[in-house]
Amino acid sequence: MNEFQWDMEMNIGVAEIDEQHEYLTGVLNTLCQSFAQGTDKEILEETISQINDYGRYHFETEERYMRQFENEYPDYIAHLEAHQEFFEKVVSFLLDYVEGKDSITIELLNYLVDWWFQHINGMDKGLGKFLQQKGVAEA
Ligand SMILES: [Fe+2]
Ligand SMILES: [Fe+2]
Repeated sequence: MNEFQWDMEMNIGVAEIDEQHEYLTGVLNTLCQSFAQGTDKEILEETISQINDYGRYHFETEERYMRQFENEYPDYIAHLEAHQEFFEKVVSFLLDYVEGKDSITIELLNYLVDWWFQHINGMDKGLGKFLQQKGVAEA
């Protein structure tokens, strides 16, 4: 898999969220590169647990911003569901691998990376625009 890194073009205008996106993009890249190089299971497991923990922390951060405008932000429910879906369709499979139940596939990692960038460029950018209108995010 090709290396990838954070691109400032993907910033949504909330520094706290942009920094988290950048950090998690780096962790996802580490996972993909480690997998491609056949790195030790231990290192893969460590990276997966970071994705699980930091991923939850990141989604909670966004949801905190969303909750402030629960009745006005039009994608509130859909955005919560999308975060939930990421854990059901991606992270749960990674955790199965950690528990020795399943193996990681290139398809799963491709799905993970596509999901991540599409989500940021779609819903998260939309959230950023909304927060800009509310004066919470920088344009
Ligand atoms: Fe996000
Ligand atoms: Fe999000």
